Amino acid sequence: MKKMTCVIPYEEYESFDELSAQDRQLMEEAIAATETSYAPYSNFNVGAALRLRSGRIVRGSNQENAAYPSGLCAERTALFYAHSAWPQDPVEALAVVASVDGTVTPTFTYPCGACRQVLVETEQRAQAPLRILVGSAQKVLVFEGISSLLPFVFDNLPEKH
Ligand code: THU
Repeated sequence: MKKMTCVIPYEEYESFDELSAQDRQLMEEAIAATETSYAPYSNFNVGAALRLRSGRIVRGSNQENAAYPSGLCAERTALFYAHSAWPQDPVEALAVVASVDGTVTPTFTYPCGACRQVLVETEQRAQAPLRILVGSAQKVLVFEGISSLLPFVFDNLPEKH
């Protein structure tokens, strides 16, 4: 037996001002997306914004339902919408953030496990690392590629259909 270690590189930005103009725009789009969230059960309004290779920005927000598991996270709403509308345009970056009662949360909103799994396949289709921006009211964390957030990934099906 060998003890193994997994190192996860990421960047921490002190504020939105420290971000590049492109990243800042994506975070601001994600904040704007929280306004279309439908979250009467959790009151947790999540917004996601992704940038396609063409430069197009696509927003998504969490959509809940009284049958709780029928709802969908902001990230997957944006990812599935983008691929259904622009299937040939790969996803380059995604930003996620949440607000409660109209105020961006002071804590980070990380993509959930299911969204990470979908991000894996999105990145594989793009054949390039997908930049993930995790927002809060102040700081922003940036992960270059989904393997930083999901290092041990299920992707060994014998054949993809
Ligand atoms: N949620 C997201 O939209 N994205 C995440 O990454 C985490 C959780 C939503 C799902 C649900 O509508 C609410 O946040 C509370 O879990």
